[in-house]
Amino acid sequence: MPMFEDYDIVQAAEKQVRKVASMTNANGADSNSHSLPIPGDDGEGPIEVPASRSSISEAAKYMHNLSASPSMKERRGSRNSFGTSLPIPRSKRQSRLSSVHYPDESLGRPTRPGMPPVQPSRAILASQVQSVEVEKVRKAKNMAFAFDIDGVLVHGDRLIPEGRRALEILNGDNELGIKIPHIFLTNGSGKPEKARCEQLSKILNNPVDTEQFIQSHTPMSALAEYYKTVLVVGGEGYKCREVAEQYGFKDIVVPNDIVASDPSIAPYRVFTPEERASSRPRDFTKTNIEAIMVFSDSRDYATDMQIIMDLLRSENGRLGTIAKDPVSQRIPIYFSQGDLLCPTEHWTPRMSQGAFRIGLEAMYRALSGVDLERVVYGKPETATYKYADEVLTSWMEQLHGEEKLPENIYMIGDNPASDIIGGNMYGWNTCLVRTGVFQGGDNDENNPANFGVFPNVLEAVQTALRKQLGDDFKMHFDERINPVLHGDKADAAAII
Ligand code: G3P
Ligand code: MG
Repeated sequence: MPMFEDYDIVQAAEKQVRKVASMTNANGADSNSHSLPIPGDDGEGPIEVPASRSSISEAAKYMHNLSASPSMKERRGSRNSFGTSLPIPRSKRQSRLSSVHYPDESLGRPTRPGMPPVQPSRAILASQVQSVEVEKVRKAKNMAFAFDIDGVLVHGDRLIPEGRRALEILNGDNELGIKIPHIFLTNGSGKPEKARCEQLSKILNNPVDTEQFIQSHTPMSALAEYYKTVLVVGGEGYKCREVAEQYGFKDIVVPNDIVASDPSIAPYRVFTPEERASSRPRDFTKTNIEAIMVFSDSRDYATDMQIIMDLLRSENGRLGTIAKDPVSQRIPIYFSQGDLLCPTEHWTPRMSQGAFRIGLEAMYRALSGVDLERVVYGKPETATYKYADEVLTSWMEQLHGEEKLPENIYMIGDNPASDIIGGNMYGWNTCLVRTGVFQGGDNDENNPANFGVFPNVLEAVQTALRKQLGDDFKMHFDERINPVLHGDKADAAAII
């Protein structure tokens, strides 16, 4: 399992210091040949978040000693160690004004200069009528949930039944009849956000908006500002090409394009006429691929690993060449997430992108004699949680008309080495459920959930709601309790 160790944190911190030093040499220029162009801190461009794990491959941990090359060269402690930071989009999603408004400042809504006066909604009228509810409404708006998806709400395409009910409660079927903020934070990947949200909405029978949704490669859209020609790996068919196009990447190559150009590059690949017809071959000996982005799980390890290895060992991403210096001429490689395992419909979890990465790291080290430096996005990376803050803040404005991060955030996950360690490090409350990867005892020994272990997501949500809103908090909307909100439950929830 990818784990954060003190060593990793120290490495990252040291490298960050070296990075700053290397960026400010005598003539003010970056002295490294592969420097990433870093936008200035001028409110424009991506935010660079220091990596919370070492950028150096983890292969050694998983290899027999005899496999490790004794000739490991000194690593670059420089800008070339691109793993020192992970760019994420600077600007939050374009937010719209919510239909939920506060009637006056007494209910906690700050004045927003230049914005139109707010109008009371049925929710607020209700809270005025029932003063005891006001405090609960305030508290409900000061909490939020971040849901892992696989192993918490679904297994592949199969619903985990408690997930549907948990979301119904948060979407308004609760005693206040209000929406309690929640986002989805998944290491899942492989299709555009809109398509994935539509699919999830159907399975969960609850709305899942792209504005409250982060999958592993979502923050990697920031990388489009850094690289023009990229190899995008993983996913079904050409869906990840589509994802990359939506993120703004200008020149996207996928492995099929390369196989179509030179079938001998992948000797075990059976390349169908359909695949050939749908690919975009060109002469890759005349193109420099500037970076490799593994967006999703490889559907063909043999082909993808071969092509990635050829590129990593080439001169600056030019196929048909072999680098004289495997370090300084190596192009960067990014992975959208690091999970070793993923719960699916199969009876035991399946290998995920982390396993693919470990394999690549070991191969690279064995073939080149040096460790592979790489960047890994997704949970538990701090950059991903920081991006989640951005999305949650924006979602709060849509939901409650207030661009503010709630104080009490609950991460509900099934993977201690991903959801829980990341949430713990980020200061969130963490709930571990037993419906996915975690199959252990009272709590995970290495990365215990700080809010507890629950049989399923519904139990976790209900316990968190009771903690924040009182033991007597009702998990059903009842118009007799809240007379102003009488009428159809769904209608009330939709309005609020
Ligand atoms: O590990 C792969 C991915 O499917 C996990 O997704 O939702 O559990 O973060 P999730
Ligand atoms: Mg999960």
